[in-house]
Amino acid sequence: MFRLAIFLVLPLSTIAQSYKNISLGSTLTTSDVTDFWPSPSGDFPFGFQRIGNGSSGFLLAIWFNKLKEKTMVWSANRNNIAPEGSQVELSIDGRLVLTDPNGQEIWVRDMARAGLVYRAMLDTGNFVLANSSSGIVWQSFDEPTDTIFPGQVLDQRSRLVSSFSSMNASTGRFELFLDGELALYTIKYPIDATNDVVILRNIEKKKKTDV
Ligand SMILES: *[C@@H]1O[C@H](CO)[C@@H](O)[C@H](O)[C@H]1NC(C)=O
Ligand SMILES: *[C@@H]1O[C@H](CO)[C@@H](O)[C@H](O)[C@H]1NC(C)=O
Ligand SMILES: *[C@@H]1O[C@H](CO)[C@@H](O)[C@H](O)[C@H]1NC(C)=O
Ligand SMILES: *[C@@H]1O[C@H](CO)[C@@H](O)[C@H](O)[C@H]1NC(C)=O
Repeated sequence: MFRLAIFLVLPLSTIAQSYKNISLGSTLTTSDVTDFWPSPSGDFPFGFQRIGNGSSGFLLAIWFNKLKEKTMVWSANRNNIAPEGSQVELSIDGRLVLTDPNGQEIWVRDMARAGLVYRAMLDTGNFVLANSSSGIVWQSFDEPTDTIFPGQVLDQRSRLVSSFSSMNASTGRFELFLDGELALYTIKYPIDATNDVVILRNIEKKKKTDV
């Protein structure tokens, strides 16, 4: 049996809207994974998580920090693992960029033209980049991976894709897709089957799905 890794984080007792207002020009590196950008409550840090058995590399991620097993809820580079020595920088010219030790860009969101002035990791689990009038110019909620949060809005083209396996965070075989209807797709599962689709009309019944 294969457990679908899509789940809803339970509502937190309080969803504080306070946040740390941190200005641009800071970096995180894989050499110190205990250095991250936390939300004010500490529930959700943004930073690097080592994956696999040590050799495979790092994800730039947001995780739920209050569980013993740190539960990843968002990742920038799940299909393009960052090697040891990678870093992420939020540059003063407004680029959030993940680079490998040779300076090659692994993942980048360029907000140079959007008037980006600060970043904030919110207690809602959302990492936001904002301009001088506190308008959001980019947010992790716009690019969900396998988790939806209370208060997060999925637009018509949003999709959640499960991880490949518990040891492999790459996009896996189950996809929840909003396209007029809410649809659960299986992607090549079983491996030799054609892709299948199940239409879900009641999300409440599908908080946790064993397939
Ligand atoms: C990862 O480590 C565990 C425990 O040390 C081991 O059982 C498992 O086989 C390892 N997996 C890989 C892919 O190396
Ligand atoms: C964050 O910084 C911006 C730009 O300096 C400012 O306009 C905004 O009011 C600040 N927000 C908070 C909550 O401090
Ligand atoms: C900040 O972003 C908001 C939302 O994207 C936008 O409406 C607003 O004009 C921007 N403000 C500045 C000063 O760029
Ligand atoms: C994870 O799964 C993907 C998709 O099947 C595969 O391409 C990749 O090699 C796997 N990564 C590891 C470290 O096994």
